Amino acid sequence: MNFTLGVCQFKPILKNVKVNLNKMVSMVDHVNADLIVFPELATSGYVFQNRDEVLSVAESFDRGITSKVFRDLAIKNNCAYVIGFPENDNGILYNSSMLINPNGTTHLYRKIHLFAEEKRWFESGNLGFPVVETKNKVIIGLMICFDWIFPESARTLMKKGAHIIAHSSNLVMPWCQQAMITRSIENRVFIATANRVGKEINGDKELFFTGKSQLTNVDGSILFKLDDDEECVKLHTIDPLLSENKQINPWNNIKEDQKPDYYL
Ligand code: ACM
Repeated sequence: MNFTLGVCQFKPILKNVKVNLNKMVSMVDHVNADLIVFPELATSGYVFQNRDEVLSVAESFDRGITSKVFRDLAIKNNCAYVIGFPENDNGILYNSSMLINPNGTTHLYRKIHLFAEEKRWFESGNLGFPVVETKNKVIIGLMICFDWIFPESARTLMKKGAHIIAHSSNLVMPWCQQAMITRSIENRVFIATANRVGKEINGDKELFFTGKSQLTNVDGSILFKLDDDEECVKLHTIDPLLSENKQINPWNNIKEDQKPDYYL
C-alpha cells in the first residue's frame, strides 16, 4: 500500500498563534499527502518566561482555533495532520499534540515526559500513548520530543500496533535523531520526527533548535533528513504494512522473542 507522509519543519514565532497558523497552513495547503507532522508547540513557540505566557497562547483541544483551522484543511485536502500545541484544559496546561483525520475526527496526546522547565508550567500527560487509525486503516502512534529518551514510549506504541510514529519535536540536544534510528530498528516501525528550527530568545533565555527532521524506515535506514535550518515540507511514500513484519531473519522476531519474565 502506498502512503505519503511528511514533516513540516519551520520556525514558529514566539507567542503569535495567528501568524504561526497562517504560516503552517500556507506551507501545507497545496501539498498532496496522507499525513503531515508538525513540530512540538508549533502554534506558540517554546521559550516561555512564566505560566501566564503559556496561558495566553494555550487553547482547548477540540474548541480552539487550531483544531478548527486544521479540521477544515484535513477535510479539504483529504490529509491527516499532527500538530503540537499548548493545551488549556479548564486551566490545566499540557504540552499536547492533536491528530486531525480527513473525516474530521480529532485525537489528543498529552506529553508524558516533560523536559527541563516545561515542568514549571505543564502537567505531565495523563492519557497514555495513543494510537489512531487514519486513511486506509494506517495506524499512527503519537509521542512528543523528550519521550524519545525513554524507549518505553516507542515500545508501547509498537505494542499497540502503530505502523508510523508521529514525533512532534522541539529538539535542543544533539542525540535524538540518532536515537530514533534505534527506536525504528528495535520496534520495526516508521518514525517521522518533525523538529523546528531557529533560535528563540525571551528576556534572558535563549534556545537553539536543531532541525534535521527525519523519517526512519522499519530497518533504521533514513528515508530523508532535512538540514538544520531549512523551512520546508518534505514528503516520502512508504508502505506502512511493512511494519507489521517483526521478523528480522528466519530465526528472530522482535515481538515473539521478547522475554518479559526477565525484564523489570
Ligand atoms: C523537548 O522535549 N522539547 C526537548
